[in-house]
Amino acid sequence: MTIPSFDLKRNYARVESEIKEAIDRVLSSQHFILGPDVAAFEAEAAAYLETPYAVGCASGSDALILALMAAGVGPGDEVITSPFSFFATASCITRLGAKPVFADVEPDSYNISMEGVAGAVTPRTKAFIPVHLFGQLCKMEDTPDALKEKNAALVEDCAQAFGAHRAHGGRILRGGAWGGFGCFSFFPTKNLGAYGDAGMATCFAESDAKELSRLRVHGATETYLHEEVGLNSRMDSIQAAILRVRLRMIETWTEERRDAARRYGLLFAENGLDGEITQPAETPGNRHTYHQYVVKAVRRDSLHEFLAGRGIVTRVYYPLPLHLQPCFASAGYKKGSLPVSEALCGEVLALPMFPELLPEEQEAVVSAIAEFYKG
Ligand SMILES: Cc1ncc(COP(=O)(O)O)c(C=O)c1O
Repeated sequence: MTIPSFDLKRNYARVESEIKEAIDRVLSSQHFILGPDVAAFEAEAAAYLETPYAVGCASGSDALILALMAAGVGPGDEVITSPFSFFATASCITRLGAKPVFADVEPDSYNISMEGVAGAVTPRTKAFIPVHLFGQLCKMEDTPDALKEKNAALVEDCAQAFGAHRAHGGRILRGGAWGGFGCFSFFPTKNLGAYGDAGMATCFAESDAKELSRLRVHGATETYLHEEVGLNSRMDSIQAAILRVRLRMIETWTEERRDAARRYGLLFAENGLDGEITQPAETPGNRHTYHQYVVKAVRRDSLHEFLAGRGIVTRVYYPLPLHLQPCFASAGYKKGSLPVSEALCGEVLALPMFPELLPEEQEAVVSAIAEFYKG
């Protein structure tokens, strides 16, 4: 038996006919870039996320760059972010000539520590990128006042957190809805995945939405007139049409992921594995969407290999923190600078997690883990 870490084919089987119809509709229209399906997806996604504006683009990486550009980030600026994330979280900063300033993460939620953020603010701080890692929002309400006083732009990295939300002050706010920019990836394995690359940035001010819309078409204000230099980062109509179908399923799929996460928790307890496996913490007020189900495991690397030998695919997100990536050496961080992130890189393991994961597959995963630790 093989148990994959995700299985897009099972997911496709649930929406195949609607997806084919949607693609056919775009083919008949012969409108492939931006256009009515992109505009409709933007409106539907903005309504779901409860943000006034959403602007589709070519990838989550581009959404981050576009949002930082719209926030005016450039050479000499500092941008505070998490070292425990995917590469694009930091490369969007250096691509604009700015400097990433890393604040360490919390050991339980894996998300950036707001106390660490407060300590990282300097006169050069221009923006803050909290990363809602693995599908759970950061403690956004604790965003330090020092950032607000400096008018630093908020650019949420929501690539892994479509639909995640957090209760605060009698309201429930989704990722991307905390008052700044929200940057989403629709990479195929994401909770809301396209069938190719796609991304989106949300925002609150009409002027920001207009700027994002200009920047994604080379900064053009009208055809062949450029007052600034942007990117070529347009969303494909086919991807938008696919995303519109898949958006209708996102609540069902999210609840299925949450059921699977609960089942893992029960199985670990039943198998007496709480000493060896630390389950992901869902911090109070959060709705974790389990883009990944990431545990901390004693003797992680040996467990990873043992499970591979049993046909169970697990993954390490992330083996090397961003502050120790060779390409960011000039930022001046050393081993030991951010100890929580560095320790997590040696402990975390993502177990199979997708909406269609079967209970018997989860039982097989946990009994293989029990066999590894208990013999
Ligand atoms: C945390 C995070 N940020 C940014 C990105 C970049 O998204 P994309 O792959 O769509 O460019 C990803 C996707 O892998 C991600 O996981």
